Amino acid sequence: MTRNIIFKNVGEDLTFKILPDSKAEKVKLLTDPYLLPDSIIKRVIETFESELELGLEKNPNTQSSLQMANTFVPKLLSGNEKGAFLALDLGGTNFRVILLTFQQDGKVDCFVQYYTVPEPLRLGEGELLFDFLAECMHDFLGKKGLLGKKLPLGFCFSFPMIQTGIDEGILVTWTKSFNCKNVVGKEVVQMLKHSFSKKEGVNVDVVAIVNDATGTMMMGSYIDKRTAIGMILGTGCNAAYFEKVERIEKWEGKHPGIDEVIIDIEWGAFGDNGVLDFMKTEIDKDVDEASLLVNSFTFEKLFAGKYIGDIVRRVLLLLIEKNVLSKSDLETWTFTAADVSNTLEESNLEKILENLKSKGFLKATLEDADIVHYVCTAISARGALLVSICLSSLLRRMDKEYATIAIDGSLFKHHPRYETYMRKFIATLAPNQKFELILAEDGSGKGAGLVAAVVTSLDTSLLHS
Ligand code: GLC
Repeated sequence: MTRNIIFKNVGEDLTFKILPDSKAEKVKLLTDPYLLPDSIIKRVIETFESELELGLEKNPNTQSSLQMANTFVPKLLSGNEKGAFLALDLGGTNFRVILLTFQQDGKVDCFVQYYTVPEPLRLGEGELLFDFLAECMHDFLGKKGLLGKKLPLGFCFSFPMIQTGIDEGILVTWTKSFNCKNVVGKEVVQMLKHSFSKKEGVNVDVVAIVNDATGTMMMGSYIDKRTAIGMILGTGCNAAYFEKVERIEKWEGKHPGIDEVIIDIEWGAFGDNGVLDFMKTEIDKDVDEASLLVNSFTFEKLFAGKYIGDIVRRVLLLLIEKNVLSKSDLETWTFTAADVSNTLEESNLEKILENLKSKGFLKATLEDADIVHYVCTAISARGALLVSICLSSLLRRMDKEYATIAIDGSLFKHHPRYETYMRKFIATLAPNQKFELILAEDGSGKGAGLVAAVVTSLDTSLLHS
C-alpha cells in the first residue's frame, strides 16, 4: 500500500537520529498502523462526506454519527456592533467569565476572569454546577461594579446539544471530564437562568447559547472577515462552518432571507456508529475502554488533547513488551499532551532523555529518547491528518474563493508541529482551495460574547426553528 500523503508531508520528521537500523525496523513495524496509507485516507474522506450529508437529512435511513447541529447563527460580525456584553465559557476544567466592550472604532476590549471547576462539581449534581456558575458570575459582576445591570450574555457550552433556538440548548451527552447528574436531556439555558435567579444582583439576559467551535468561528471573523470555519483542537475536537440553508433538509423552519447558517458538526463523535472501526487500532480501543464515557467520541479519542498522551504511552508500553524500548513501569505513568509537545519541541536527544528521566523513566537511554520522539511524531501526524481530512472536505464543499479557518485550543496552541502538518496536509488534500489557518485565542468564550452582540442586532424571530 502506498503512503504518499503522510510521508510526502511529514516524512522528514519520521526518521531516527541514532537508532540502529535493526531496531528502527521493529519500531516502524509496530507503529505502522498509525501512518495511514492512502487507501485508508480515501475511505475516511468518503465516510466523513457521507456522514455529513446524512446528518443534514430529514429522515435518514440510518443515524449519522455527525450531529450537524443547527446553531441558528446566520451571520458573522458586521462591524457595527455596540455596547457591552458578557460571556460564560464552560467546557474544560477552567471556567471563564468575560466582559466585552465595543469601542467606537469597532475594536473590542476584553476582561477575562478564570475560575476552576472542582472535580466533585464536574461529576456531581447538575444543579450544583449551575449554582457554582451563578456564584462566579456574582463574584465577577461585583468586582466590575455591574451587580444589578441587565447586560446581554452569550453562554459558551462546549458539549453536544440540540438547539431549537439561539438561546435554547438541550444537552445530548456530557463529554471530556464532565459527567453531572440530571442535566442530560434538559434545557441548559433554563438551568442557568434558574441558578442566576437565586443570586441577588445577577440580572443578566442570556441571549445566546453557543458551542466553542461556533464561538471560535465568530472570534475568527473579528480577526479576519473571510473566516468560514471555526475549529477547536484542545481537550476535545470539533468544528463549525457555514452551510447553505437549502442543503439543510432537516431544518423545517427555514426563514426567507437567510442563505447560510452556522452548523456545529460535533465531529468529536464521528465514528460512534461504527463507521470508523476499519481504522482503529487495538490501542485506540483500549484508550476508549479507559475513558470516562466508553463507546463515544470515537474521532476525538484518536488524537485530541485529552487522549494523545495516553495513546503514545500505550504504544511505548507495547514497545517495551516487544523488548524494543528499555524496561520501565509505564503502567503507573501518565503521559500528557504537554509531554508530547515537549518531546517534539526538542531536537536534542539528551534533552528528551532528561525529560523522560524526570518523569520516572530512570533506565531510559538515548536510543529510547529517539524512539519516543518517533512515536510522538507518528501519533501527532495521524491526528493532524485526520483533522485535515475533515477540514479539506469542508473547504471543497463550501468552495469559497478564500476561506480562513479560525482555530483555538490547547493542543493547537502548544504542539510545535501540528499547525505545520495541517497546512501541508490540507494543501495536498484540497489543492484548489485557498485557505489560511489563524489562531483565534480564547475564541470560545470571547466568541460567545460576540454572538450575543450579533444576536441583539437581529430580528429574534429568525433565530428559532
Ligand atoms: C467535545 C464536545 C464539543 C466541543 C469539543 C471541543 O467534542 O462534544 O461540543 O466543541 O469537545 O471542546
